[in-house]
Formats: sequence, C-alpha cells, structure tokens
Amino acid sequence: MEEILSVQNLTKYFTNKGIFSSSKIVKAVDGISFSLKKGEVLVLAGESGSGKTTISRLILRAIEPDSGTIFFDGVEVTKESRNLDKLRKQCQIIYQDPYAAINPRMKVSDIVMEPLQIHKIGTTLERKKIVLDVLHEVRLEPAETIYEKYPHMLSGGQRQRIVLARALVTKPKVIIADEPVSMLDVSVRAEILELMREIQEKHGISYIYITHDLSTARYLGQRIAIMYLGKIVELGPINDVLFHPRHPYTQALIDAISEPNPDNLYQDKKIRINEPIDIDVYEGCRFRSRCPYAIEKCKDEPPLDQVEKDRLAACFVKIN
Ligand SMILES: Nc1ncnc2c1ncn2[C@@H]1O[C@H](COP(=O)(O)OP(=O)(O)OP(=O)(O)O)[C@@H](O)[C@H]1O
Ligand SMILES: [Mg+2]
Repeated sequence: MEEILSVQNLTKYFTNKGIFSSSKIVKAVDGISFSLKKGEVLVLAGESGSGKTTISRLILRAIEPDSGTIFFDGVEVTKESRNLDKLRKQCQIIYQDPYAAINPRMKVSDIVMEPLQIHKIGTTLERKKIVLDVLHEVRLEPAETIYEKYPHMLSGGQRQRIVLARALVTKPKVIIADEPVSMLDVSVRAEILELMREIQEKHGISYIYITHDLSTARYLGQRIAIMYLGKIVELGPINDVLFHPRHPYTQALIDAISEPNPDNLYQDKKIRINEPIDIDVYEGCRFRSRCPYAIEKCKDEPPLDQVEKDRLAACFVKIN
C-alpha cells in the first residue's frame, strides 16, 4: 500500500519554566518515525502526556518541529510554506471538544462552509450544495433545517457531527481525530465512531486515530503505535499488538483495562499505570523505572527494532 503521510525522526522539546525551580525540558516528541498508508487507520495510543496531541500539531504545522521531516502525499511539507495550503486542505483535524472547535456565534452553514471559503473552493451556490451534501453524509437531518441553526441548539453528538462535516467538506485525504468521542455521552460515542468508520471506508480516507481507549482503537484501527513519554515503544497490526504485546508497557496498558484473570501470566508483574511518572528519566529506556523486566542494559536507549514481520518494539527484553 502506498503511503499518504510519513514522519521521520520528528522531535519537539518544550521548556517549562518552573515558578520555584529551574526550567525543565519536556521531550514531548522525541525522534518519532511512522507512516500512514492510503486508506489506513493508524491508532496512536498511550497515557496522558505521551506526546500524541503534539504529533498532530506538528503534522498540521500548528507548531514547528525542532527537527525531523514530514512528507505528505510524496511532498516534503516540513519547512515549505508553499505546500502548506495543500496540506491544510487535504489533512484535517477533529479535536476532542466539539464545544471548543466551533464558533458559537456562527450558524452551522457558516461553520461548515468556512473551509471552502478559506481554500476558495466553488461558487456561492456550489458551496451551499456541498455543505448540504456533507450534512446529509454525517446524518444531520433534515439538513436544510440544521443548516440554519446555531451550535447551542444542537446536542453534543450533533455538534461533533458538525465538526466531522467541517473536516470532510474539503475532501481531505487524511483526518487526524484526537480523542474525538471521549467528551461525548457514552450513548452517542458508538454512533459517531460508526459514522467515522463508514465515511472512512466509503471515501478511502486515511485516519490517525488518537485515543487512550484500546477497545475503540480496535474498532477503528488497523495498526497501532503505542507511545510512552515522547517515543513509540511498539508498532504493528492492532490485534497482534494487543493480543501479543512485545513491550512491557503495552502489556501494562492492556492489564490496566482487563478484568483480573487468575491465569494472567503477568499478574505478579503488574505495573501501576496511574502512578506518577518520573519524567526526568530521559536516559536509556524511559519505562525502566516502572518495568518489572528491567535489566542493566536498559540504561541504554533501546532502538525500535523489527521483532516480527511488520512489527516493531523498542525493548531489549521483548516479552512473549
Ligand atoms: N505548548 C506546550 N508548552 C509546554 N509543554 C507542552 C506544551 N504542549 C505539550 N506540552 C507537554 O508535552 C507533553 C506531551 O503533551 P501532549 O499534549 O502531546 O500529550 P498527549 O499524549 O496528547 O496527552 P493527553 O492524552 O493528555 O491528551 C506533556 O508533558 C505536556 O505537558
Ligand atoms: Mg492529547
């Protein structure tokens, strides 16, 4: 399968100035490489603070990387502002919070039409038709009525459909969905995910689906990259990774959501996922202070090596 997007060695550090202490460097994204194939859904998963949102902001050039390269549809977009328009038209993002993503003073029609105006797509009449079509597509019915409404007249689920409509209106090749359903009522989550999957399959759009939630990850995703403190620690086909993790951190993430199981091989080696992480551990394997398998060698940085066909893991031990 051909690639639509690839990032190589992407790096972004932040300096957080402490009020009482000296400033601290946060290695939010630290030498990340992956590619997204045409029509594929790649999941980025990992705890809070692992760098998932920073990656999406880097890809969209909302912030500049310290180093690394980004290719979109075969063209390098890292420094070129020439290709930025194409990138922003063809790569759309959906954020977690549908309330923050849309301007409450704008009508649905204007919210969804805005990207067409920005990218100078269609005449006024054509734009209206495109917007109505896309409202039908995300099942906001009757579209003609919804068209005239303001966001506050809609439910949370409907608002996230508006966000999806706005993302779709420029016919993007890639959609980055950053926790798109985590703020919605449980009852509407499944509907939105179903709609996202249907749209993805119909148009062959590639998704980067960012989530903590491994069950929705499995519902949408084909491959998964597990992130830990700015690094990808494991990458591969989603069922292989989730059913046979090779990195202890992936195992810990799965354990954190599984029912206690007496046969669980790792039970005596449980890792507490919600304990505070010592983020000063940037030397060697970052997971080693929490890892029950850590050995002396883990003081070195483990490379993201191939462990099986199509599978990578950054671990010297590589559990089985
Ligand atoms: N603008 C910024 N200035 C300083 N630090 C930042 C900034 N943006 C992100 N960070 C830090 O970078 C790290 C990665 O943050 P990021 O938001 O990418 O994580 P995340 O994986 O998306 O987390 P979450 O699951 O909570 O959304 C965190 O330690 C965060 O505090
Ligand atoms: Mg985030």
